[in-house]
Amino acid sequence: MTAITPHGGTLIQRYEPDYDIQGITQELELDSFALSDLELIGIGAFSPLTGFLGKADYDSVVSKMRLADGTVWSIPITLPVSEATANTLEAGKRAKLTFNHEVYGVIEITEVYESNKQEEAKQVYQTGDLTHPGVKKLFDRPDYYVAGPIILTKRLERDRFGAYYLDPAETRAYFEKQGWKKVVGFQTRNPVHRAHEYIQKSALEIVDGLFLNPLVGETKADDIPADVRMESYEVLLSKYYPRERVFLAVFPAAMRYAGPREAIFHAIVRKNYGCTHFIVGRDHAGVGDYYGTYDAQLIFQNFSEEELDITPLFFEHSFYCKACGNMASTKTCPHDKENHVILSGTKVREMLTNGVTPPPEFSRKEVVEVLIKGMQQQVSV
Ligand code: ADX
Repeated sequence: MTAITPHGGTLIQRYEPDYDIQGITQELELDSFALSDLELIGIGAFSPLTGFLGKADYDSVVSKMRLADGTVWSIPITLPVSEATANTLEAGKRAKLTFNHEVYGVIEITEVYESNKQEEAKQVYQTGDLTHPGVKKLFDRPDYYVAGPIILTKRLERDRFGAYYLDPAETRAYFEKQGWKKVVGFQTRNPVHRAHEYIQKSALEIVDGLFLNPLVGETKADDIPADVRMESYEVLLSKYYPRERVFLAVFPAAMRYAGPREAIFHAIVRKNYGCTHFIVGRDHAGVGDYYGTYDAQLIFQNFSEEELDITPLFFEHSFYCKACGNMASTKTCPHDKENHVILSGTKVREMLTNGVTPPPEFSRKEVVEVLIKGMQQQVSV
């Protein structure tokens, strides 16, 4: 085990492939969002959660960013079902959790309650606007929440990047084996461009290892697909990173796009994976103009160092500056905007889909080659 304690004190492990599901008649069909949450609870990535949130925890997380016992937790992890299904459920009973009619787990139902989505959207996403992808997802899902501890009975199928799926117990063991005392976690739902590389390597200057931990669960349709990104990470690491100081493994969670609240959640989860530090840059987990550029950094002021127990490393907006002749940020560069190579995510995706190469100051050429090939294959299928 690394020196760092999991959130709440214990690494939760609820994977029981031999769990006896005979005699459980009730079935709940999960969506892919809930399926990934089930697995992440089961492997301890969401420690101290042992299941989907009950009403007291839900209300407390929504209003206070804490579980009912006071532990910091910023995103409600819930299991939505329709009112009709809710009426068939009973506290004290168990239900099989299925996806495409295959059983992946069991929930011991403690409670079924009506959600308060208006409040959840307002507090967690800071908007009720249905064009926000996280809010849209929230309102698209059913209105009743089933709560209770889960058992994960089956692991999810993996794609060709299966080797990068590691549980928190495994990443912790790896960091320990490497002798890394300080490990910085990096969340991303994008390819690693030069700005990402710059802040990762700046962080690596002061810690022992970098844990590149791209989110590969459900993302919005216009984000670059995970398999295309994975190939680009492999190429980048092999050419530009010290292999013995960087570790790549995926974070198989759905993206919420909850900006500041999700930054806290992302940090806590990376603590569970064994990180001591976590990078929060510009508009972390943001989308559109819903959050201020540094809101995801400011939100950390609401919590003490002890209760988070993972050190956030904050970075200013970074870019290549032609006048400096190197990567820089608003904190280190004295030159005008005209010198800065900055491209929006939308612009970059448009370029890649059309086979147009973004400048090398923005993204490494090897990364761009993989992305263009990958994006064009996506378009042609
Ligand atoms: S996120 O939704 O996963 O946060 P993204 O993959 O773009 O999106 O960002 C990964 C991390 O890098 C986040 O911490 C984000 O704040 C940071 N980041 C992205 N681009 C920049 C940039 N140009 N300058 C500084 N930080 C950045």
